[in-house]
Amino acid sequence: MKQALEVAGVPIAPVQLIAAGTTLREAIALVTRTLTAVGIAGAAGDARIMTAVAAGRRTVDLIAHPEAVLNAAAALRLNEMAHRRVRHEPVSRILGEREFYGRRFEITPATLDPRPDSETLIGAALELLDEAGMRDGAPLRLIDIGTGSGCLIVTLLAELPAATGLATDICPAALAVALRNAERHGVCDRLRLRQCDMLEGMSGRYDLLVSNPPYIPTEEIARLEAAVAAFDPRRALDGGPDGLAAYRRIAGRLSDVLALPPNPAWALFEVGAGQAGDVADILADGGFPGARTWVDLGGHTRCVAVKTLR
Ligand SMILES: C[S@@+](CC[C@H](N)C(=O)[O-])C[C@H]1O[C@@H](n2cnc3c(N)ncnc32)[C@H](O)[C@@H]1O
Repeated sequence: MKQALEVAGVPIAPVQLIAAGTTLREAIALVTRTLTAVGIAGAAGDARIMTAVAAGRRTVDLIAHPEAVLNAAAALRLNEMAHRRVRHEPVSRILGEREFYGRRFEITPATLDPRPDSETLIGAALELLDEAGMRDGAPLRLIDIGTGSGCLIVTLLAELPAATGLATDICPAALAVALRNAERHGVCDRLRLRQCDMLEGMSGRYDLLVSNPPYIPTEEIARLEAAVAAFDPRRALDGGPDGLAAYRRIAGRLSDVLALPPNPAWALFEVGAGQAGDVADILADGGFPGARTWVDLGGHTRCVAVKTLR
């Protein structure tokens, strides 16, 4: 059976629907051809993952049992997934899950789809704590501004078993997802969640602040690739006219929330490509000079960190 598909009103290659009784091998080939026809890079890998999930099997089973057939429900699920992928929806969005620092996180339309680049922030935080001899057993107080799926703070709590944390977001639906991810990874007894606008009304002192705030300049959002602009919530992206609004707001309140001497404290930020110098300047103007930076696997400076005591 064939069905015509449209993207933004423009007809695209017909997608052949997968029927019950199709073998796994045939289904993968069919979905791969369909995704390739609409220019999706990595079509074969996507086809394998979606076929495995639709069939309720592990991807390794596809190799072991290529002649197994899809039942009606599995075929329907795979058709739905293929139709969404044809519209360039990321596989993680279709599955509602993304792996981050080796753990799987639920994502919903209320949350950013966590990016591998953000793992740079985790690596930097653990490195700084290692250097200070505070990684093992220290009862650190963590705070994550704009937690989204909770990928940053849940990962840090999982890596730092004596730490406690506060996750904030302006979006209650995102906080609900962060809570479920905290439960999933066994850290919800050490995590509080709070809806608030950046650091407004925040009290308490923290040893480690992390934030991956919205940092795309407003006018650039329309020019982002489809998978970003169409599927990530705008509030997770829009960093104001120059992309730096959130950094200015957080830097202006940093001295009110970071731990006081004699304890050291750190603040770590994810930054967009080309923003590291500006963010370091904003932090220096706010009384936190001497920023250190970390580069992601793509070669972009992705993390900027400052420390209170040197
Ligand atoms: C770029 S996303 C980061 C999400 C997650 N931390 C991650 O790294 O995948 C930014 C997050 O900031 C939240 N946000 C936007 N404006 C905010 C505000 N004024 N106060 C608090 N959170 C805000 C968004 O809802 C979104 O979850």
